[in-house]
Amino acid sequence: MASNPTSRTPRVTIGVCGGVAAYKAAELVRTLQKINIDVHVVMTRAAQEFVRPLTFSSLTGHKVITSMWEGNAESPPTGLDDQDQIEHISEAQAADAVVIVPATAHVLAKMAHGLADDFLSTMLLATTAPVVVAPAMNVNMWNHPATRANIALLRERGVIIVEPDSGYLACGMTGSGRLANVEAIAQAVVAALAGIPQDLAGETILVTAGGTREAIDPVRFLGNRSSGKMGYAIAEAAKQRGAQVILVSAPTSLLPTAGCSFVPVTSAEEMHQAVMEQLPRATVVVGAAAVADFRMPSVALEKLRREGALHLDLEPTEDIMRSVVDAHRPGMIVIAFAAQMDADVSHARAKLIAKGADAIVLNDVSRPEIGFDSDRNAATFITSDAAIDIPEMTKREMADRILDQVLGLRKVIVGAP
Ligand SMILES: Cc1cc2nc3c(=O)[nH]c(=O)nc-3n(C[C@H](O)[C@H](O)[C@H](O)COP(=O)(O)O)c2cc1C
Repeated sequence: MASNPTSRTPRVTIGVCGGVAAYKAAELVRTLQKINIDVHVVMTRAAQEFVRPLTFSSLTGHKVITSMWEGNAESPPTGLDDQDQIEHISEAQAADAVVIVPATAHVLAKMAHGLADDFLSTMLLATTAPVVVAPAMNVNMWNHPATRANIALLRERGVIIVEPDSGYLACGMTGSGRLANVEAIAQAVVAALAGIPQDLAGETILVTAGGTREAIDPVRFLGNRSSGKMGYAIAEAAKQRGAQVILVSAPTSLLPTAGCSFVPVTSAEEMHQAVMEQLPRATVVVGAAAVADFRMPSVALEKLRREGALHLDLEPTEDIMRSVVDAHRPGMIVIAFAAQMDADVSHARAKLIAKGADAIVLNDVSRPEIGFDSDRNAATFITSDAAIDIPEMTKREMADRILDQVLGLRKVIVGAP
């Protein structure tokens, strides 16, 4: 988050619940503090079986709230904070955002049904701040119809869900349920503080990016000038707007956004294979990669020597967007990109129709100030019956404009994700 000397430090309350991943909440405290966020912590009783409050009070410099009924025989609980305010209400109002890490199946159920039997769940009912939850649990608990229904209900109410990752779980099983990457959770908190709408929640957006490389011999390749910046900007924007993102990328010098499923590839053939493998999960495909049109039928095993002229016989590569459209499922939205040496809409629309995509983003790469390797771009978003000019702006801004158009298409394309 950019620091602004005139604005006050945002305050985030982390609710820590009783799961194995409770220790990762300590890492989130540090990550948020590094971006100038004042972090407070509330722990459930079960959370304290996994991590001691001392860890969080030492890290945050604030008292950790562990119960609604703090006190003892000599000093019975008052429910009041240091300013004599009712503590679960004052904490709820003081928070600019609340993030639950890890969110147990139990706390999700309580949130969905409005239960308020401890400090955290009562505070969650009393807050009007954005709420981010990062669930972590056993794969069967995550897939249980009760948890699925609770997640759907919470999402419908505007709770921001940072979906768990797939992989090896503490219980020894493999599957979905591992706490999302802490960077991705921090990013969702930052987006919540900035009021970025989570209007792509529920979508899984597969983005291709970068320029593929087609090997000639062990040291040389046929490449192109794509930097990958447009595709990476789309991946970042989609992630910040609540989508699940799969980024299939040819080599670039860029760092993928935290929390994306990142699939690195080199050649058009590898990109084709990766896209087709990931496609069953995708509700939207954005083909922003510059994919080679031709490759060597076979790669020389030895480095080619300079012995006079060299003639390369090339064969066409796979048409990735064509394959995507052929494997189209109801409700899936496909956005292609066209790099042209002009801004001829009819030519781009012919390509759109030939490919069978829902829209095509026309880039005029003859303009040196925009396009390849530039941080800026201008484009035309073309559908079968409309051509919307997107004037020159940063690629990050353009990413949001393209995703706005995707949302527009979602409203008319039957089969929500
Ligand atoms: C060793 C152990 C690990 C657990 N891990 C998880 C977990 O990762 N996710 C989860 O939802 N529940 C987990 N549980 C169950 C919760 O601790 C239990 O449902 C508890 O009531 C949650 O309380 P809370 O939501 O108030 O923190 C675990 C329990 C134990 C004993």
